[in-house]
Amino acid sequence: MTSNPYPLGLRLDGRRVVVVGGGAVATRRVPALLDAGADVLLVAPELTPALRARVDAGRLHWVPRRFAPEDLDGAWLVQVAIDDPIAAASVSAVAAERRIFCVRADDRTAATAWTPAVTRHGPVTVAVFGGGDPRRAMTVRDAIRDLLAVRLAADGSTPAQSRPHAPTAATPGVTGRAAGRVALVGAGPGDPELITVRGWRLLTEADVVVADRLVPGLLLDELRPDVELVDASKIPYGPSRAQEEINQILVDRALAGAVVVRLKGGDPYVFGRGGEELLACAEAGVPVTVVPGVTSSIAAPSAAGIPVTHRGVAHEFTVVSGHLAPDSPASLVRWDALAGLRGTLVILMGLKNLAAITATLIAHGRSPQTPAAVVQEATTGTQRVLRSTLGEVAADLLAADLRPPAVVVVGDVVGALDG
Ligand SMILES: C[S@@+](CC[C@H](N)C(=O)[O-])C[C@H]1O[C@@H](n2cnc3c(N)ncnc32)[C@H](O)[C@@H]1O
Repeated sequence: MTSNPYPLGLRLDGRRVVVVGGGAVATRRVPALLDAGADVLLVAPELTPALRARVDAGRLHWVPRRFAPEDLDGAWLVQVAIDDPIAAASVSAVAAERRIFCVRADDRTAATAWTPAVTRHGPVTVAVFGGGDPRRAMTVRDAIRDLLAVRLAADGSTPAQSRPHAPTAATPGVTGRAAGRVALVGAGPGDPELITVRGWRLLTEADVVVADRLVPGLLLDELRPDVELVDASKIPYGPSRAQEEINQILVDRALAGAVVVRLKGGDPYVFGRGGEELLACAEAGVPVTVVPGVTSSIAAPSAAGIPVTHRGVAHEFTVVSGHLAPDSPASLVRWDALAGLRGTLVILMGLKNLAAITATLIAHGRSPQTPAAVVQEATTGTQRVLRSTLGEVAADLLAADLRPPAVVVVGDVVGALDG
């Protein structure tokens, strides 16, 4: 018989936490550690694209090899996220020798620390231990989360649940489900609290979650441990998984009876290739539900204090992809026509081509003095905002070293709320 765990809130700001393993479990665990301010050292010969993106962004240190005892030098906590029990036991043994608490994904009975099921509501964190049964912990956590959501909605702090019409048969409940299905769920721009109530509920019902790089990592941290997480990251210019392969995974898992959530950053239909996934599922006879998301094209300006429309300033906003240069034969965008608009232009995926885009807009008549802003990693703890003008923004962006994901906003709305 095991004693009950002693609950603690670890204050990890600047403290070294070692994560051993670079697969799906580490992908789910690392975001919460980073959110707590931990100095994360990841030890693994290989990483998932999502973890690699965090390494490339300078968020954590990566030692690209197998674990060695000296990796625990200076560590306060170690999380073992590998499924090889012998390797995991040897990490645990080194941790125990050094009196460092050790969380083990492969064998919780051998661990010296357990991670609870967690739900976060602003500054409030609720952590639940299920007496050694993670499913029980998740069930209780979900019930508490629902209660808090209802309470907050009653207070007026959370929008009431929307019930858009599903394109196919009504969604059955968790119990009694017979056939597989797919939900294309918009995860919102970055803050985990910006997923819709419906999107969250479907996540709690999922057997399989196929997630993009831009989805909030903390949402993945809250999944049940038995959920299969497929990392469909499409890192620009890096390793990528073909869209056909993603479509196939959705169809195969659903036909095998799984409840599949395809979790996408922002809204699934805004440069999200959601339409292709819906068609692939429909062709295979798989029922699909689409849950809209808060798109970064509106949320990123908003998070930077920029309304995309404002009375007497802008009566329209246009969202455009800048992933192709204006002179590219493959581009479908009439940049010359956009230059003639007076309203707000919101450019996604446009950093690489920004100099060519701004030059084209100016050449076709938009004033170089038009206010412009760039919002990087909007709604996250690492959001950055640059304010400039159409004529200067490309150079200012380089000087400030802003990086994707970022949204560029052009128009008088950029200064509309400035005192
Ligand atoms: C492939 S598009 C997907 C857009 C997504 N479906 C949406 O509705 O927000 C990716 C682009 O969205 C923008 N983006 C997504 N999340 C962002 C964020 N948190 N901050 C700034 N831009 C973001 C960036 O321009 C990024 O290159």
